[in-house]
Amino acid sequence: MSDQPIVTAAPTESKELTSFADLVSLCKRRGFVFPSSEIYGGIGSCWDYGPLGVELKLNIKNSWWKAMTDRDDVEGLDASILMHPRTWEASGHVEGFVDPLVDCKTCKGRFRADKLEHASCGKKLSLQPGKHSECALTEPRLFNLMFKTHMGPLEDSANIVYLRPETAQGIFVNFENVQQSARQKIPFGIAQIGKAFRNEITPGNFIFRTREFEQMEMQFFVKPGTDMEWFENWKQTRIDWHISNGLRRSKLRFHQHGPTELAHYAKAAFDVEYEFPIGWQEIEGVHNRSDFDLKRHQEFSGKKCEYFEEATKEKFIPFVVETSVGCDRSLLSVLCDAYRLEGERTVLKLHPKLAPYKVAVFPLMKKPELLELTDKVFGTVKKHFRSTYDESGTIGKRYRRQDEIGTPYCVTIDYDALANGAHPGTVTIRERDQMTQERIPVENVVAYIQDKMANWKSE
Ligand code: GAP
Repeated sequence: MSDQPIVTAAPTESKELTSFADLVSLCKRRGFVFPSSEIYGGIGSCWDYGPLGVELKLNIKNSWWKAMTDRDDVEGLDASILMHPRTWEASGHVEGFVDPLVDCKTCKGRFRADKLEHASCGKKLSLQPGKHSECALTEPRLFNLMFKTHMGPLEDSANIVYLRPETAQGIFVNFENVQQSARQKIPFGIAQIGKAFRNEITPGNFIFRTREFEQMEMQFFVKPGTDMEWFENWKQTRIDWHISNGLRRSKLRFHQHGPTELAHYAKAAFDVEYEFPIGWQEIEGVHNRSDFDLKRHQEFSGKKCEYFEEATKEKFIPFVVETSVGCDRSLLSVLCDAYRLEGERTVLKLHPKLAPYKVAVFPLMKKPELLELTDKVFGTVKKHFRSTYDESGTIGKRYRRQDEIGTPYCVTIDYDALANGAHPGTVTIRERDQMTQERIPVENVVAYIQDKMANWKSE
């Protein structure tokens, strides 16, 4: 596209993220994620998304929503968080959404009885609870993870409602509404993005496990007998989605749930796992929920949750293949995968479609003769891409600032670009990952960046 040579920078050693601490600090400093209620000392496991975090999160949600609802066989939904309390009896959450909990009478710590090997004793961090001579652990007791509140002014047991621990139930109870209003035939799915709440006993690891989080869930309703085929199909589709967001295949794997790991509703389940600095961890669950949920809602509500298949004149309760990914956890995997330390620079090699800003525009210097063309270029670029402008500090410093927030393309207007310069009407575009620079005519900038974005590949 340009007759000017590409300027390449000397390669430097590239180091990956080794602990969450560096990422937590970058996220706070650059406005991705802040501790919630920080001026009051924070509140356990709650986080606020800042200006760049909210953009990144929206881009991830858009990527998911597009992947789901661009298909003709998936419809969208936005159900309420508070639902009829019988929902949670039917779903099995009142009875079965529990973790075994032990308390230590000495250090007052509270731990999951089934995860003691991953916890630290309050007296000596290197030991697991129960292994120190002074530990005094109670017998395990079951603790329900649902947050309870009351609907209306009376705080009595008749008014208890729950903050939903998964968005899925809003989909199940709307199965018939959606199927009939959208005139869908089985197989078809319903997709939803929304907040979920779990009173986790051991939240932590930044935004990995929190008590308030967002889920992106899709329930795919199929004819019994075709469920395992669809299950395999969705497993592949979902891992491909993570790769389409720039995650490296080598950092992703499946983990199959053994009989003791299966949730109360699941006939078969695979987790998509990502290799975080804390090891391989689940980012998404793909579950064959059989007819468990619709059958239970039919039983508890007294309303039929069946489907009538016109072609065969058969009536049946559909089976459900569920895909369930945490938005916050997906965002964490995207940040971890993109993070690199290369010599002096910290860089987020985000997929351009997810980057909060796609383009940064700089005048080489803050001089009036450069600002006219800079304004023109910025004005044009802004119409096509989410862009930012920076005129303070050296060009090197400005590149570093954009590298750290993952901006893939920086456009600089220098003296050569002016009417009396060596290359009138041109700009240089510097690309984040390889730090190559190319001189381009102003009128080609938008097409150049569009082309680069469309052909971007993770390293
Ligand atoms: N409807 C099925 C369901 O909720 P899950 O495996 O319990 O399944 C699905 O959760 C996804 O939700 C997980 O893979 C994870 O990404 C996210 N998630 C679950 N609990 C979370 C928590 N406490 N904090 C952040 N994300 C969480």
